[in-house]
Amino acid sequence: MRQTLRILAGSSNPLLAEAIARRLGVPVSRMLLSRFSDGEVRVKIEESLRGMDAFVVQSTCSPVNEHVMELLIILDALRRASARRITCVIPYYGYARQDKKVKPREPVTARLVADLLQYAGANRILAVDLHAEQIQGFFNIPVDHLYARTLIADHLIQQGFHDQDVVVVSPDVGGVPRATALAEQLEAQLAIVAKRRPEPNKSEVLTVIGEVRGRTCVMIDDIIDTGGSIAAGAEALKRMGAEKVLACCTHAVLSGNAVDRLAVSPLEQVIVTDTIALPPEKRSPKINVLSVAPLLAEAIDRIHRDASVSELFQPYL
Ligand code: R5P
Repeated sequence: MRQTLRILAGSSNPLLAEAIARRLGVPVSRMLLSRFSDGEVRVKIEESLRGMDAFVVQSTCSPVNEHVMELLIILDALRRASARRITCVIPYYGYARQDKKVKPREPVTARLVADLLQYAGANRILAVDLHAEQIQGFFNIPVDHLYARTLIADHLIQQGFHDQDVVVVSPDVGGVPRATALAEQLEAQLAIVAKRRPEPNKSEVLTVIGEVRGRTCVMIDDIIDTGGSIAAGAEALKRMGAEKVLACCTHAVLSGNAVDRLAVSPLEQVIVTDTIALPPEKRSPKINVLSVAPLLAEAIDRIHRDASVSELFQPYL
């Protein structure tokens, strides 16, 4: 059944690609990935992929441009090697936050990346927690969009974080549908932190909407980048009398001094997934990593068998 299934790993997250391949019972295909002396990306697929159903696992995380370019070049190599179908498995889609023009003369870079992927040879996309649902519409090829929320919810329930003493908190107004869906899964209450961004990568809490006094608050976001939103939100919740504050997100971007910021924040625990590989210097006892490998492997298996993937979607519309 899986005779034509092939998994390839870009350099962003080889451990995740290996975990996916292991679950599917196939090896990661051999591919040389290196750089020429001037920094150009060098790719050579070292086995025949003619007629194969190829899945390339690459998060376009930092260094973002390197990973995007590497993915484009792998796609070009696969197309020229006559792979039958090429699916980009993009656990974390970088540039996703540039999904609209906020001010005049700004680009829509999430769309530009979508165009580049299709031009380079992608036939389908498999992604996890895209920053905005409308990014699916930037592609003219099928997009299977998975959510890590159930994985996170199961983990929280196992730890006893559910029911009416728990309040799920959205760290901004835009994240309310995501937080509402988690609150439903945990049978918990909902609260909202209203924040503003005076400039990119800075965040200020305006107010907290909802009852948090004496409760355990679970903040949920798609991305923790500088950690500013989550740390400021946690401080505000503590000031409002929350007993405990936890945070969870799908994509642990953790740029700059985010790890230190989370370490000194009132957060007791930060739950993230492995859509982005955490290097040793970003690991901390506070950060708990859950793996999306089983979810992605299941989706790949279904795509390969032409079976329905929708059961895995669980959107929060
Ligand atoms: C933005 O809309 C995202 O959903 C996250 O809230 C944001 O990227 C988090 O950024 P930071 O950790 O830098 O505050």
